[in-house]
Amino acid sequence: MRLVLLGPPGAGKGTQASAIIKKYNIPHISTGDIFRANIKKGTELGKKAKAYMDKGQLVPDELVVSIVKDRLLEDDCKDGFLLDGFPRTVKQAEALDEELTKMELKLDHVINIDVESDELIKRAVGRRICKNCGATYHIEFNPPKKEEECDVCGGELYQRDDDTEKTVANRIEVYLKETKPLVDYYTKKGIIFSVDGKQAIEDVFKDIVKSLE
Ligand code: AP5
Ligand code: ZN
Repeated sequence: MRLVLLGPPGAGKGTQASAIIKKYNIPHISTGDIFRANIKKGTELGKKAKAYMDKGQLVPDELVVSIVKDRLLEDDCKDGFLLDGFPRTVKQAEALDEELTKMELKLDHVINIDVESDELIKRAVGRRICKNCGATYHIEFNPPKKEEECDVCGGELYQRDDDTEKTVANRIEVYLKETKPLVDYYTKKGIIFSVDGKQAIEDVFKDIVKSLE
């Protein structure tokens, strides 16, 4: 299954992605995670991306597209994948279509997680992530059993640099201008399904599974 997860910052893409890839046994390709891993390693790509991410702006299309193209050619993607946070502009969506056509493949579904802006800020600002395994929590909506400790591996939790109120507000603005038009783009192709992302995490997942079956 070849899937795209669409939705504003903090809508729950990463949270749902971890459940989807487990159920359907496909690799999770998150461009945000790829950039954060590069920042941690101190690569050239990481340095370039950080300057944009810290301001809540998009990393330039050329950089993102070439990373995703390379990733899609890897062996584990041949039977399907879940793209999370890509595409984010019409240019990226067109580049993805072009690449998949070359590979004689196409997207099966695009899942759009819908949540309004006020809620998004609360979600992002309260988010905590495990330093060790990447599991995502929320101090209020999805707290770890022990304060500041990962349920999965006991790792320490941290807050993303771009999860401040000001940067999240910027990211939402960028989303509305650059990414929301993709809802139209994929509606025209007849492959998009929107779910109400304000529900509990498990209920959002149930709706996603229903839409895929
Ligand atoms: P990226 O890492 O993709 O971030 P994002 O799209 O802003 O999305 P988030 O990771 O913030 O949110 P999410 O939807 O995954 O929510 P989550 O599940 O964590 O991108 C970061 C930056 O990288 C961009 O700003 C850009 O600079 C750059 N970038 C990345 N891709 C790019 C691209 N293609 N082109 C250009 N630049 C790119 O949930 C959020 C919180 O809410 C968590 O605490 C969670 O526990 C909680 N939560 C989740 N679901 C629920 C629920 N149903 N109810 C209550 N709480 C919930
Ligand atoms: Zn962990």
